[in-house]
Amino acid sequence: MNGKLIGNPVDRVDGRLKVTGQARYAAEHTLPNTAYAVIVQSSVPRGSVLRMQTSEAEQSPGVLAVFTPRNMPKLAGLEKYATIPVLPRVTAMQDSEVLYNGQPIALVVADTLERATYAASLVRTTYVDKPATLDINKARVEPAPGVFGGPPPGHTRGDVAAALKAASVRVEATYTTPTETHNPMEPHATVAVWDDPEHLTIYDANQGVFFMRQFLSVLLGMPQENIRVLSRYIGGGFGCKALPWSHIALSILAAKHVNRPVKLVLTRQQMNTLVGFRPHTVQKVELAASPQGKLTALRHTGLSEVSEQDSFAELFTGVSNMLYACPNVTTSQQVARLSTGTPTFMRGPGEAPGTYALESALDELAHALKMDPLELRRINHADKDPEHGHPWSSKSLLECYRSGAERFGWAKRPLQPRSMKDGDVLIGWGMATATFPAMRSPAAASARVMPDGTALVQCGASDLGTGAYTVLSQVAAEALGLPVQKVRMEMGDSLLPLGPLAGGSSTTASASPAVQTAAAEARKKLIQLAVADKQSPLSGLAEKDVLTEDGRLFSSKDKNKGETYAQLLARQNLPHVEGKGDAAPKPEEKKYSSHSFGAHFIEVRVDEALGTARVSRIVTTMAAGRILNAKTARSQISGGVIFGLGMALTEETLRDPRTGRVMTADLAEYHVPVQADVPAIDVHFVEENDPHVNPLGIKGIGEIATTGVAAAVANAIFHATGKRVRELPITLDKLL
Ligand code: MOS
Repeated sequence: MNGKLIGNPVDRVDGRLKVTGQARYAAEHTLPNTAYAVIVQSSVPRGSVLRMQTSEAEQSPGVLAVFTPRNMPKLAGLEKYATIPVLPRVTAMQDSEVLYNGQPIALVVADTLERATYAASLVRTTYVDKPATLDINKARVEPAPGVFGGPPPGHTRGDVAAALKAASVRVEATYTTPTETHNPMEPHATVAVWDDPEHLTIYDANQGVFFMRQFLSVLLGMPQENIRVLSRYIGGGFGCKALPWSHIALSILAAKHVNRPVKLVLTRQQMNTLVGFRPHTVQKVELAASPQGKLTALRHTGLSEVSEQDSFAELFTGVSNMLYACPNVTTSQQVARLSTGTPTFMRGPGEAPGTYALESALDELAHALKMDPLELRRINHADKDPEHGHPWSSKSLLECYRSGAERFGWAKRPLQPRSMKDGDVLIGWGMATATFPAMRSPAAASARVMPDGTALVQCGASDLGTGAYTVLSQVAAEALGLPVQKVRMEMGDSLLPLGPLAGGSSTTASASPAVQTAAAEARKKLIQLAVADKQSPLSGLAEKDVLTEDGRLFSSKDKNKGETYAQLLARQNLPHVEGKGDAAPKPEEKKYSSHSFGAHFIEVRVDEALGTARVSRIVTTMAAGRILNAKTARSQISGGVIFGLGMALTEETLRDPRTGRVMTADLAEYHVPVQADVPAIDVHFVEENDPHVNPLGIKGIGEIATTGVAAAVANAIFHATGKRVRELPITLDKLL
């Protein structure tokens, strides 16, 4: 190994394919004879379908089929599927019940999209209305369930009630975060093709082809081997593309019925109703500390909204269990059931809303203590995981604080709010801690060195658009002894070796060790072939005396003595030399707690006359183990920070309180930050060598950057104005 590739700011290997339109996204797969499906959605929040008039639609030009609850084919495994924890209920018109406004109630299939869209407008529905719960204050409240088969949230250590009572300094506040919707640039889309009555292929925008295949196998009652899922290029996921949704099932059933490939692409409006959302949370945080700032009590409780039909909780209290050294902690969560679509994971699920509440409360406590908010965090640094008692596999949070503060100039921050002005504009500086767990799951890979001296590396992981093709190519190239341009990476196909879900910030940590093992094995086989080959210049050398670089094998004692991979393979007359790799979490990794950590330092400028808050400066420092590509990593952190800016200042999904209909169902109404909202973001990585977390020391950077941003912005606004906003997003009405 030349050891020079990993970490380099290599340009995206798929960049050219993307900018030239050659990288095909799910919706861009148009097969011969494709039919187009359009979903008709309910217009009432709760009830059942009494009658549907479909004859006009059926007779409309080009229409091939109109499905309603009455004639929709059944999903064979629906009942079994419903027993898998956390999966959203698939409301694929399997019965007449309407559970929320916007639920699919009919599907029109036609020979063109335009004809299907028009015919869908002709479907008339009569409902039997049922009482809907649209007001969270009137919702049924229950203890929060566990998520993904995990235990229900909640943790207790020490005696919080006694510590709060005895405290000299305490703060208590309630923070709310709104419903938010993922809105990746690429819409969800499925092209379903039945190759024969037993074999299905789908081109689908999703975050994990093996996950999707497994879920579909249960839902359809089909063997996994008979299903192929492809998701080669993805235009953003953010969590909404992790789990199966109704449109996937609908397109598959429709394709079988009309016996043609069926393409179903969600509209932007449907992206805001049919594929999940981050649930609204109401969080109460109580903190107590000694006059010197040592935390003595932390209580974090609250609820998140959930639909009546699903089991999901936004696990926002997790951060309070582990982030600070505090002897007395209690956390607990509830859910409030509403007549809505299904909430689901959204980038930094739990940690993003949880850090908003906790890190705002820390800022309130620092103010009450008349202490620098960064100093308060240093004093309460957790040297080991206070929840489980394990050592950290690595933790460089104190260094993040130090270097971030230095780059930002935090030392010059006046303690008092309303101390900094530029003309009429108030300036404030805020900071917050960021954290996200480091996880990995099983993965496999293969690496083939081809006769032309290039390599084909395969792993069925998914690249959400953040750079997995690139970093996995780097890992492979380094282990193969090839330049990165000579490696072709294939991903996003369930026919490839097992890939992980692109979720939980774990793709790189999961897939890299498998890719590295496969590539190293292929390289070793090349060396073995060379030293055993009488015609090779390396014949008879010990394996350890052969080095590789740029696709060439050579003697460690004489660089000129050697040959290229292509020369060796040509003489051997082999189609390729292949290595295979498997990787899975090891039991000893469980002895440590592994998290990425970081800190955000943010400057805001608030115009009090207008109520506008503009973020003018951001320094983000991250310690996230080994960084495989300095360039894609910086982009990913910047993207996560921008996601957090949206959460802080603009993003909010609103439903009509009378009908439960999502009112902010497009990008004109659902405000994501635009270029003018985002200053230059100074992203900096603290070098970290984690020998315990996994073989490559990778901790993951997909979600952590979003955590803490909303609190840092809110804290900066408080510092600018003296006004504490405890309700996201911080829109101008809240600052006037
Ligand atoms: Mo991500 S919210 O773990 O798909």
